[in-house]
Amino acid sequence: MSKKVSVLFVCLGNICRSPTAHGVFRNLVIEAGLEDQIEIDSAGTAAYHIGKGPDTRSTAVAKERGIEMADLRARKVDFGDFYVYDYILAMDDENFANLEDLALPEHKSKIQMFLEFTQDFSESEVPDPYYGGAKGFDHVFDLVDSASRGLLEHIKANHLN
Ligand code: 4NP
Repeated sequence: MSKKVSVLFVCLGNICRSPTAHGVFRNLVIEAGLEDQIEIDSAGTAAYHIGKGPDTRSTAVAKERGIEMADLRARKVDFGDFYVYDYILAMDDENFANLEDLALPEHKSKIQMFLEFTQDFSESEVPDPYYGGAKGFDHVFDLVDSASRGLLEHIKANHLN
């Protein structure tokens, strides 16, 4: 079988935005029966929360929308990720800049802003909800859900038969 298409979602702490994307996209991929063809992971650019599960504010919003993600554990992006993943998707401009700094020139084209895949929102960044209120987590979910749907359509159209 040919190699899986692989996607890495990246935020700062890997406990709010990128695990939400990981959980939402994983659910869409399973619903589409494509889990043998698409590989998914998430990571943070910072080491603050390595080994921790997602923020309970994120898991609560996800659960309300039918997404389980409490099994995920935070890790930091590492150099090997640039060899492994086809799509390395940054939640905000700072994540994007940090990834660009880490990547070799030949890997930089793998890095994209995740919200390039939304067709419903004009924002370019998924805002960091960590120090804000509950509304921020709902908005993160809405952005992530929309971009995940667009990403799956993009991968189906460009990589799968
Ligand atoms: P995330 O959110 O990058 O979406 O996981 C954050 C989580 C933790 C921190 C900042 C953002 N922090 O400063 O600890």
